[in-house]
Amino acid sequence: TVLVLDYGSQYTQLIARRIRELGLFSVLFPGDASLDRIKSANPNVIILSGGPNSVHVEGSPRVPAGFFEHCEKMSIPVLGICYGMQMITHLLGGEVKAATHGGEYGRMPMDVSLSSHLFSNMTKKEINVWMSHGDEAVHLPEGFSVVAKSRQGAIVAIENHARRIYGFQFHPEVMHTESGLDMIKHFLLDISGLKADWTMDQVLEEQLAKIAELVGPEGHAICALSGGVDSTVAATLVHKVLADRLHCVFVDNGLLRYKEAERVMETFNSHLHLPVTCVDHSKVMLERLSGLSDPEAKRKAIGAEFIEVFKNFRDELDKKIGKRATFLVQGTLYPDVIESCPPPGSDQKHSHTIKSHHNVGGLPKDLQFTLIEPFRELFKDEVRQIGRLLGVPEQFIKRHPFPGPGLAVRVLGDVTGGDKLDVLREVDEIYINTIREFGLYDEIWQAFAVFLPVRSVGVQGDQRTHSHVVALRAVTSGDGMTADWYPFKPDFLREVSTRICNKVRSVNRVVYDITSKPPSTIEWV
Ligand code: XMP
Repeated sequence: TVLVLDYGSQYTQLIARRIRELGLFSVLFPGDASLDRIKSANPNVIILSGGPNSVHVEGSPRVPAGFFEHCEKMSIPVLGICYGMQMITHLLGGEVKAATHGGEYGRMPMDVSLSSHLFSNMTKKEINVWMSHGDEAVHLPEGFSVVAKSRQGAIVAIENHARRIYGFQFHPEVMHTESGLDMIKHFLLDISGLKADWTMDQVLEEQLAKIAELVGPEGHAICALSGGVDSTVAATLVHKVLADRLHCVFVDNGLLRYKEAERVMETFNSHLHLPVTCVDHSKVMLERLSGLSDPEAKRKAIGAEFIEVFKNFRDELDKKIGKRATFLVQGTLYPDVIESCPPPGSDQKHSHTIKSHHNVGGLPKDLQFTLIEPFRELFKDEVRQIGRLLGVPEQFIKRHPFPGPGLAVRVLGDVTGGDKLDVLREVDEIYINTIREFGLYDEIWQAFAVFLPVRSVGVQGDQRTHSHVVALRAVTSGDGMTADWYPFKPDFLREVSTRICNKVRSVNRVVYDITSKPPSTIEWV
């Protein structure tokens, strides 16, 4: 295990992902984890991440007392990145100061020592790296040597090979750092002597065995499928172990995309052979939503209805199988459970990275299930790999995310009354099909249409019209936390707008959303 201690850098998860891409298991703990907690992970290597703090700020996070002694005793190599390197310097008796030249941000060439341990695999001395720091090390602790300097003369890599402690001031994990992945690989495999033997096949085998042991020969499990990749792959995996002791439910809440329930059920049944009950709750849901305009009120109503349907499903199931199904399968991912470092200046303790509204559509804790969460330690790309190993069709694996409250967050205001949902479904279908036709679907994180609560004046066939306006949105993103709008070429935009207005007669205006997140969010509400 490679343990990454998080000091709040926006790149910390990226470090963990890079390590996993190299075939090594990595976990993330908050930077002020206790020594006992660190020991419990049984790490072979520890990486101290970057972070927004300065080591001179009172209360800035740091490794626990006894950390370096423990690592040396157990012969655990330690690599500090950015703030991590400054912390090593500061705590072991060197000196860190605010950079006199104002810090280094962005691309910067550095000169490395090819005879050092850290850079012995590099083939040239000058390497362009990605920097982001205001403080820098000016005097090193005893026994450390400078093994790279930036063009501005800053110390940007250090090592003490005898004590197995190393530091990079730059960010090897970001793609803008030339040979960054090679540096991490060299550190982990050559210097630290780890073996790259963590594979998805192995994770899959382990999970299958773990589930079999947890559920035993008699247990029954329930899984609520959303049609998204995480729950689909989770159910497919658990189904391999439990077969007909797994019971899935898919709720048609009336807020799904064009023919979505049919299409999803078809894949569940004929490709994945999953036992799925489709509950059509659309009528009740739409009645419940009638008159609700506030996005949070809509989300709450949808969440509450979902729980009702779920409880009903469970009660019926209990009657059918003659006992209680006590296990619940959920597609929870690692980013949902990572405790991240609190932002600088905040007095809150470790905050979970998810936003509260993302739990809407989830289930209350008091339902008393034992959870089966096979992906609690995995990132989304890894779940996709598992899905491929399990034979989940590619169209599912690459599906854009879709919010639990569905089209209710894409029809602004009251979703009921008139044909708003149907209009939106048609527009969305044309939009997505055009994106696919242009071969752009896989480049985009999420694309969708939004039905606006206004009418605009137009002219169609010499007639003045006063009709609907739809907005199109497409974003690129790594995890949904930040996003940028997708730069469609004008010929795409022209084509899609023409198709929409020609085929959906009640729409006379199409606009494209050119805002990133932040300041916007991905969904409009
Ligand atoms: P925002 O709009 O917050 O969205 O930038 C980030 C990601 O989360 C999805 N999203 C939701 N998912 N329930 C969900 O299950 C919700 O209430 C919800 N709101 C937004 C959104 O589609 C994007 O992928």
